[in-house]
Amino acid sequence: MLQEKITQYTQEIEAFKPSSAEDVEAFRLKFLVSKGIVKALFDEFKTVSSEEKRALGKVLNAFKQLAEQSYKDAAAEYTGGHTDRNKRTEGDLTLPGPGFALGSRHPLSLVRKEIVEIFKKLGFVVSEGKEIEDDWHNFTALNFAPEHPARDMQDTFFVKGGDTSEDLVLRTHTSSVQVRLMEMNQPPFRAIMPGRVYRNEAISARAHCFFHQIEGLYVDENVSFADLKQTLYHFVKELYGEDTKVRFRPSYFPFTEPSAEMDISCTICKGKGCQLCKHSGWVEILGCGMVDPQVLENCGIDSQKYSGFAFGMGIERITNLKYEIRDLRLFSENDVRFLSQFETELI
Ligand code: DAH
Repeated sequence: MLQEKITQYTQEIEAFKPSSAEDVEAFRLKFLVSKGIVKALFDEFKTVSSEEKRALGKVLNAFKQLAEQSYKDAAAEYTGGHTDRNKRTEGDLTLPGPGFALGSRHPLSLVRKEIVEIFKKLGFVVSEGKEIEDDWHNFTALNFAPEHPARDMQDTFFVKGGDTSEDLVLRTHTSSVQVRLMEMNQPPFRAIMPGRVYRNEAISARAHCFFHQIEGLYVDENVSFADLKQTLYHFVKELYGEDTKVRFRPSYFPFTEPSAEMDISCTICKGKGCQLCKHSGWVEILGCGMVDPQVLENCGIDSQKYSGFAFGMGIERITNLKYEIRDLRLFSENDVRFLSQFETELI
């Protein structure tokens, strides 16, 4: 009889004590699916006399509610609240979704951009060359003698040159872009050349086998060392602030004559002396000089008529000084804890 069945199943449900998600699923399959007991009792209800219908209608509805509520309670405890396999989402579906986490700019990109912007305002254009270079552009055109130590395997990565017998190198500096630029253009030109360079170094906190440089070149009639100094003074004040001090020291590069290295007052200790500046108060940031007339001639430029200055700096070094980063390896390890400290830009 229907009445007895309802009483019996009510007792069974009241005694139901699930101890796992499987128990909960078994309950659902027994009572609530379309071939389950609740549906079967409702089918049977259709067949009973109208007298019985009157007596059992409420009881049966109460039984159905009891079965559904017991299942919901059990599901909340054991299946994280998913009460229906086809309807797993609960909550307001019209609410906007969670925002996407935006990445941040790499510190080297930020600093490169900043440097490029400063020189752009002085009329420099951006130019790029090749990372795999031939000997001429990386060394010979820049006056590196055949026995120059920089050509040694210890410093340079050599690459077998495809179908030619020529040995290629991974460029060791962006000065190679100067050569390409001068070969392809006639003065006047002003260009800034950012790029990645490679050296055969053991990786440590202070050295890496690849890093980034920015090269600058200005060639025109009557370009002088005073133009070079003034341009670089302006650059340093823009990048590190008005009160940064600058000094030039005589130096040597095969492709410039005269050559100099430029130091700035240590940005960390403001010149008082610290570990980074080795207690001297000064840190070197770039090499520079007047383009050697022989280099101009090597690239097809009349050195009687034109002169020029060039400079080259490491972007990592400039970045370290700006953000006080002490380990070069951080730049290429892709550690999100490091990278997410830098500015996020939407454009
Ligand atoms: N190419 C040099 C280096 O990698 C840097 C350099 C020095 C570039 C003097 C220049 C320059 O253009 O004039 O160490």
